[in-house]
Amino acid sequence: MKGAPAIFGVLLLGLAGWFLVSVFRPQGQDPATNRTFVSSQQCAECHPEAFEEWNGSQHSISWTNPRVRALSNDFANQDCIDCHAPRPVFVTGIGERVLPRVSRRTEGVDCLSCHQMPDGSMAGTIHDPRAACRPTQALDLTRPEFCAGCHNQHKTVDQWRASEWPARGQDCLACHMPYRNGDPNQGRDHSFVGGTSLAFLQRAVELRGGREQDGWVVEVENVGAGHAYPTDERSRASDLFWRAKGSEGPWQFFYRIRDPYRTETDIPRTLVDAHETRRIPLDTGEEEGPIEVALFYMRSPFYEDPEAPDPDREATLVRSIVLEP
Ligand code: HEC
Ligand code: HEC
Ligand code: HEC
Ligand code: HEC
Ligand code: HEC
Repeated sequence: MKGAPAIFGVLLLGLAGWFLVSVFRPQGQDPATNRTFVSSQQCAECHPEAFEEWNGSQHSISWTNPRVRALSNDFANQDCIDCHAPRPVFVTGIGERVLPRVSRRTEGVDCLSCHQMPDGSMAGTIHDPRAACRPTQALDLTRPEFCAGCHNQHKTVDQWRASEWPARGQDCLACHMPYRNGDPNQGRDHSFVGGTSLAFLQRAVELRGGREQDGWVVEVENVGAGHAYPTDERSRASDLFWRAKGSEGPWQFFYRIRDPYRTETDIPRTLVDAHETRRIPLDTGEEEGPIEVALFYMRSPFYEDPEAPDPDREATLVRSIVLEP
């Protein structure tokens, strides 16, 4: 009780100080404010973490990525510019397909694409007119509809919506933009990891199997992708192979998980949807003994079923198991 008057005094002093500062602060005269931002390089000075993470991400190479350049014929196919060098999402409008920009294309999907508002301020979760970049609270930034302008072409956002993840409170950011060191006060990681990471692929699927009455059955369960596995870019595939246990011999192909291009009308859609378990019979012919089964992730398959995993098409071994008779 004795300390109470002292605490009251400190509080009064604090209040008085706050009052003086807010009344006499020179309004709009902070030399740092109202800067014009024309390049994402300018953000690095004050947001070095976000910049470094973004700089190592697929978003930062969307214009220079050799795979994209090859497939778009060096962007002679102008339809490809839209999402790979986009105008700011908030300028085009949330939920709208983004439009192409004409300047600083090499920066790809950059800070300005996601953060710049029509009035030049930066969309964020706080409003602070005194910071150099004038963050404006625009919570649409955090919603799946924001990603949809570029990521729903192949229905990734629709797949998420149809899953149990929204009800479990797991949105795109929960998995793809986790808090740095798990701490909400440290902001969100801008590396946007996806199928380029083995750890992330392993989080997506489990592989099981066994001998049943009619022979081997292998199961692939989508336990951790917030959408189909694999998702988005249609040249992704995930292929199953087998070989006799202990044999150093080549893997033999038996099943492909993939979303075919529109033109590939004779090929079924075999994506494993969120929470789905796919049961796949495996005929090993004469081979009765223990076998090894492996699931590979291919970044660029051609459709023909492969004889064996092809390193030229970046075959990543996601999981392998041994099945005993
Ligand atoms: C001169 C320093 C400076 C530069 C340059 C700068 N910012 Fe900021 N930015 C700040 C400050 C200061 C804040 C306020 C931080 C706070 O109050 O937590 C801020 C806040 C933000 C926020 C809101 C943070 C939140 O919690 O929601 C975003 C988004 C943002 N900046 C993006 C950018 C982008 C994108 C660029 C480049 C186009 C940029 N900033 C350039 C200083 C800067
Ligand atoms: C303006 C368009 C655009 C927006 C908005 C956008 N992305 Fe992307 N994203 C891309 C493009 C283009 C690529 C592929 C770049 C490349 O690989 O060359 C990509 C790549 C990714 C990847 C990496 C995939 C891999 O292969 O590793 C992830 C993950 C991702 N985005 C998640 C998100 C999430 C989550 C959001 C919403 C917060 C989002 N993106 C918003 C255009 C966008
Ligand atoms: C509607 C937006 C959009 C348009 C238009 C678009 N892309 Fe993309 N592209 C993306 C997104 C989003 C990704 C990332 C998806 C993923 O990684 O699975 C991507 C990824 C890619 C990749 C994979 C990159 C890698 O490293 O594996 C290639 C290749 C590609 N796009 C080529 C093209 C070509 C060619 C065109 C034009 C015919 C095109 N894109 C048009 C949004 C778009
Ligand atoms: C693909 C879209 C995308 C790109 C590209 C992007 N951001 Fe963000 N940024 C977001 C989203 C979404 C949030 C999350 C807001 C939240 O929930 O806190 C965010 C949050 C932020 C914040 C708030 C604090 C934090 O770290 O979470 C800052 C600052 C920021 N971004 C700066 C940048 C800068 C600088 C760049 C470029 C180097 C950049 N962003 C590129 C989507 C993007
Ligand atoms: C529960 C966690 C989770 C949620 C929620 C989630 N994802 Fe993913 N995402 C993953 C995992 C795991 C992978 C890797 C496996 C795969 O490619 O399906 C992945 C892969 C991706 C890829 C990369 C595909 C590639 O070619 O490399 C993109 C793009 C993507 N997600 C976008 C999104 C968007 C957009 C949302 C929100 C609508 C979202 N994700 C929600 C876990 C999640």
